[in-house]
Amino acid sequence: MRKALAILAVYGALASYLAAAEPVARHTVIDTREAMVAGINSAAVAIWDISSEARGEEGELDPTRMTDDSWSQLRDEAQSLESWARMMAEADTIHAAGPDLASCEVSEGVASRAEIQAMIDARPEMFRASARDLAERAGLLVAAARARDAAAAGHRAAEIDVPCQGCHTRYWYNQNPPQVEKSQD
Ligand code: HEC
Repeated sequence: MRKALAILAVYGALASYLAAAEPVARHTVIDTREAMVAGINSAAVAIWDISSEARGEEGELDPTRMTDDSWSQLRDEAQSLESWARMMAEADTIHAAGPDLASCEVSEGVASRAEIQAMIDARPEMFRASARDLAERAGLLVAAARARDAAAAGHRAAEIDVPCQGCHTRYWYNQNPPQVEKSQD
């Protein structure tokens, strides 16, 4: 009897722990720099490497230069790009990490952490839309790689950099100072 009660008590504690933990687990935070370095940039670079190695004379993706391995790698990297971009679009909190000061390699024209955060907070919807655009383009590349459609895959791989450029121009590079100040108030 005592044993049975003890087991019940453990179940009770576990149930209330799970109920309490759930709402916390739903709040997602994305770190912009980590998303770029660990996810988005590495997947994009892999995609561009695979497709540039298999480019034909006219710049098209030449299906005869694609192997089983390169098709499945292309699909996997595009899937990874899609899920990182979707995480960035859907995160509850977007946290700017800022340039990696430890490496002493801050490129010229790149904003500070506080400026990046202010630009995101001023227009979070446009930031999310740009991340969604990237996720959708990556999704189309996944489909093209699955179908082994070289013409579509070549085109999709080349055009994933449109949202990279668009988002970096608005949220990563230094803006004209008056513009940032205005959007902060
Ligand atoms: C929705 C916005 C957005 C999109 C889309 C986006 N980026 Fe970024 N990217 C950022 C922001 C913001 C930073 C600065 C992050 C920081 O310093 O915290 C950044 C930084 C970077 C960096 C520098 C990382 C470092 O070492 O500090 C690289 C590389 C990069 N992005 C590559 C890419 C590539 C490649 C793509 C497209 C496939 C892309 N990004 C798409 C917002 C975006």
